[in-house]
Formats: sequence, structure tokens, C-alpha cells
Amino acid sequence: MLDKQILENITVLYAEDESIIQEAITETLNLFGINVICAQNGQEGLSIFKSSSKKIDLILTDIKMPKLDGLGMIEKIREIDKEIPVIVTTAHQETTFLMQSIEFNISAYVLKPMDIYKLEANLIKAMEPKVLKEKLIEKNKKLEIEIKKNEEKQHIIETQSRFAAMGEMISMIAHQWRQPLASIGTASFNLKYKLLSENFNLETKEGRNEQSNFFSKKLDEIEFYVQNLTTTIDDFRNFFKSDKVFINTTIEKPIQNTLKIIQKDLQSNNIELILDFKSKNIINIYENEIVHVVINILKNAQDKFLEKETKNAKIEIKTQDLGNGTKIEIYDNGGGIAEEDLDVIFEPYFSTKKEKNGTGIGLYMSKIIVEKNHQGELFAKNTKEGISFYIILPSMI
Ligand SMILES: Nc1ncnc2c1ncn2[C@@H]1O[C@H](COP(=O)(O)OP(=O)(O)OP(=O)(O)O)[C@@H](O)[C@H]1O
Ligand SMILES: [Mg+2]
Repeated sequence: MLDKQILENITVLYAEDESIIQEAITETLNLFGINVICAQNGQEGLSIFKSSSKKIDLILTDIKMPKLDGLGMIEKIREIDKEIPVIVTTAHQETTFLMQSIEFNISAYVLKPMDIYKLEANLIKAMEPKVLKEKLIEKNKKLEIEIKKNEEKQHIIETQSRFAAMGEMISMIAHQWRQPLASIGTASFNLKYKLLSENFNLETKEGRNEQSNFFSKKLDEIEFYVQNLTTTIDDFRNFFKSDKVFINTTIEKPIQNTLKIIQKDLQSNNIELILDFKSKNIINIYENEIVHVVINILKNAQDKFLEKETKNAKIEIKTQDLGNGTKIEIYDNGGGIAEEDLDVIFEPYFSTKKEKNGTGIGLYMSKIIVEKNHQGELFAKNTKEGISFYIILPSMI
């Protein structure tokens, strides 16, 4: 609770026309640690209130005073400041003023002659709301700063995660493009070779047909592979689209879309992929975000296989309907995670891939996507020869 301390160093404007009383009370107020600014009447009090360079925290005033009385002064002050606490000192015979003064939001009345302890108690009580309010404002300000800092931090993490994903995408595009680019290279080499070696007898119709068939077959092949490259780019571009709309779908669709992007990469690293799609539930998801999560998990499995040089590397993706949701299990046989690290892998910046410059935000972002953006659950358990990641997404209600 607040106590005497809240009176220390506050500034009180004290209006009183009887100088003996004013001197005595001022002395006592000073003993409480209060700074006192004195006025001899209401008018002087008002002009001090308006012009004081010092912040006035409370008004203590007599009622009957020459020029402008206490209530008149309070009325004018209330036009400027609705909140400042006011304590009125009054004699018994002046109680008729009391009703009238309610509208001025007066904190307390202290009867004259003043009992110092009552005055002190009333001063503390009058200051309490102001001090509490200031404390609250200060606390809110601090809270706002904290929230802003957190938002900035979150934004940085999201940007980093996007960059990391782009880096991975580039490596996946490279894998995806390797085969069609090689095929285009072979087709164009064959064309050039046949042309240079003058393999076709252009004197005869047969020879000309043979040449034309050969050329058109090779050009078709090139066209097919160019189409393939374009599709890949479209798949990747879809993934990076920032339009965030919920769609209704089975879980199979985003997983298939993920595989379009990453499958070649897995194949070229000799990773066997086993799929078992049993879920038929319709769920409501941000598709690209779920693709992002599955890519993060598959990439982590791949990293682990490379690190451990796992033979018979294998990833199993299973989906299954639950009573009120859909479960996706992604298992890899890469050896799993140390039990004590199981909880921290979802913390931002936790990574055991320092030599590979792991950012440690893949799983953190994945957890935010699943749990915050989809009200689902993401967790991991060591199983068999590796680890299983579980994504639970709620069904549509
Ligand atoms: N399938 C897995 N098998 C073993 N350990 C894993 C697996 N998936 C994640 N981990 C552990 O969790 C840590 C955090 O993974 P997270 O994806 O958040 O970051 P990262 O993979 O280290 O970095 P980045 O994703 O930027 O490459 C990894 O460093 C690794 O130690
Ligand atoms: Mg990762």
C-alpha cells in the first residue's frame, strides 16, 4: 500500500487568508516533505496555478477568503484541470458550502482547527489515485515499449526465416533444374552433331523426311523440358506468394505441393520417400504456410542424413484423421535428437548446425505457423531409429 512516502516532494498550492494558520500548517507540511506554495486568497491561488513553473500536485484551500473565495477558485481551476486533487479546510459553520462543492470533485474536507494526523491521512488518500494512475501510465509505457520490441524481434525472425527459405529454394531449384537442363543440353548437342556430320542424305525425299523428323523430335524434347523448367518456377513462385488466404482442402494437397518442390532434391540424395495418405478431412489452412512447415521438417531430416551419412535414408509421411482434426506424422531414420534437446529445438536460434550456418529458426517459425496461425499442435518424439514430427491441424467446425 501507499504511505507517507507518496507525500515526499509533492508540491501543494495552499490558499489561506489567515497568515498565522497558513504559517503553522505550511511548517507541518514541510515536515512531511511537501513543497508548499502559498496564496493569500483565491485570486492569487488561481494565478499561481495558471503560471507556476513547478508542477502542482494538490490544492489545499480555505473556503472563506477575500477577492475570490475557495470554491470560486476551485471552479476556475476545474475548467483547466479536472483531475488535480483538492482538499478543503473548513469551519463547522461553513458546512452549507459542502453540497455545492460536490460537483467540483473535492477529495476531502478537513475541519478547522486542523488535526494534523487527519490532514496527513487525507493528503495521502487524495494523492493515491494520482500516484496510482502515474504508476499505471509508466507501467503501460514500459509495456508498450516491450511489445514494440517483441514485434520488431518477431519481424526480424520472420524476415530471416524468409531469407533462409529462399536460400533453400535456390538449392532446390538447382536440383530440380539439373535434369531438364542436362536433357536440353543433350538434345541441342545431338542436333548440332547430326548437322555437322551431315548424317542425312538431303538429295532424297526419305533423307529430308528423316532429318525433319529427327529435328522435330529433338525440338519437342527441348520444348517439353523448357515447359518443365517453367512449371518448376511457377511452383516456387506460388510458394512465395504473399497473399495470405485461408483455403479449404485435404492435407494431401499442400503435401503434394511440397513434394513438387523438394522431391528431386531428396531423390538426388538417395532418400527414400514413403507416403501413406489416409486423411480425408477438410481443413482450413494457409496453404503456403503449411508447405513451409513441411519443407522445414523434410530439410531437417535431409540435413541429418547428410551429417550422419545415413545408409538407407528414409522419410515416411503419414496422414490420418482424428476425431476433431488431422494428424500428419513425418518420420525419418536419421538417428533422432538428444532427449534433453527435444524441447529446445523449437526455441528461436537453437541449432546444432553451426558449421552449416543453421539459423535455428526453421522449427520456431513452424511452431508459430501451426500453433498460432492454425490453432494446431507441433511436437516431436524420438521413435525407432530416428524422430517423428507430428502436426495436428483442427478440422473445420
Ligand atoms: N529430423 C531431425 N533429426 C535430428 N535433429 C533435428 C531434426 N530436425 C531438427 N533437429 C534439430 O533441431 C535443431 C533446430 O532445427 P531448425 O530447423 O529450427 O534449425 P536448423 O535446421 O538448425 O537451421 P536452419 O533451419 O536455418 O538450417 C537443428 O539444429 C537440429 O539439432
Ligand atoms: Mg532447419
